[in-house]
Amino acid sequence: MLAKSQAKLFFLIGTGAFSAIFLGLTVDTLAQVPVRSNESAMTAEVVHGKELWEQNNCMGCHTLLGEGAYYAPELTKVVDRRGKEWMKAFLADPNGMFPGQRRMVQYKFSPQEIDALIAFFDWIGKVDTNDFPPKPDLVVAAAPAAKSSGRMATAPAVYRSLCVACHSFEGQGGKVGPALDDLRGKFDEASLDRWLANPQAVKPGTAMPNLNLTPEARKELASWLLAGKGP
Ligand code: HEC
Ligand code: HEC
Repeated sequence: MLAKSQAKLFFLIGTGAFSAIFLGLTVDTLAQVPVRSNESAMTAEVVHGKELWEQNNCMGCHTLLGEGAYYAPELTKVVDRRGKEWMKAFLADPNGMFPGQRRMVQYKFSPQEIDALIAFFDWIGKVDTNDFPPKPDLVVAAAPAAKSSGRMATAPAVYRSLCVACHSFEGQGGKVGPALDDLRGKFDEASLDRWLANPQAVKPGTAMPNLNLTPEARKELASWLLAGKGP
């Protein structure tokens, strides 16, 4: 049995020690926030993206850092998962990316607004979340194959981030559009460039979306797609 004075001492020392530990941990956490939240990368564009995120109630369907609604995919790591090029095309026209299959809202974002949203996602994706979310919550058909070999290994970055979502090459990729292994019978550099610049103009009603590719990207794609084994 503790005497009354011993019990008092026990209480005081115990409370004092644990309060000190608690305060120490609080100070330590607060000191880590600026580093872990990636605060220095929070540009005006990132802030604008966050405003768009709030104004358009994206959280009514999506989660970020686990917070929001569980109807649509968690978006904290969406830039890692999908890549910026893919996101640009998707946010401009979600249905174009998945003809007739998707429920993501078609917003009328300007290219600047899309860039701001992507900057915001890029920033939040770099927040140190102790590896949250634990693993990709989506099986991504569009993910570039881990081990690509042959010509797929030399595919331009824009091909890997955008075209693989819908097309296959050497057996890897999506099945929304036709395989692109051998286009040499159908296209030359000029006609492929016209197609990539504006599929609708070449074939009205086509399900291939206009991906707003830069002339450089089109040139790189065309020369890669048309190289290799011919007829
Ligand atoms: C009405 C619900 C809804 C709202 C609101 C919504 N989305 Fe979505 N979003 C979806 C669904 C559902 C998907 C999954 C793909 C699909 O089925 O279209 C998706 C997919 C996405 C993706 C691609 C994720 C991936 O990994 O494939 C991004 C990026 C995205 N949304 C961004 C946004 C942004 C930014 C906003 C707000 C401006 C927003 N969403 C608002 C329903 C919604
Ligand atoms: C959202 C899905 C989607 C994406 C992304 C996409 N395509 Fe397509 N693409 C299609 C569809 C669907 C067709 C078939 C269109 C038709 O025949 O009307 C097509 C057709 C084509 C064709 C014509 C093929 C043929 O045999 O006639 C080429 C070339 C092509 N796409 C290249 C590309 C390249 C390069 C990219 C990436 C920059 C790309 N596509 C991204 C859906 C897509």
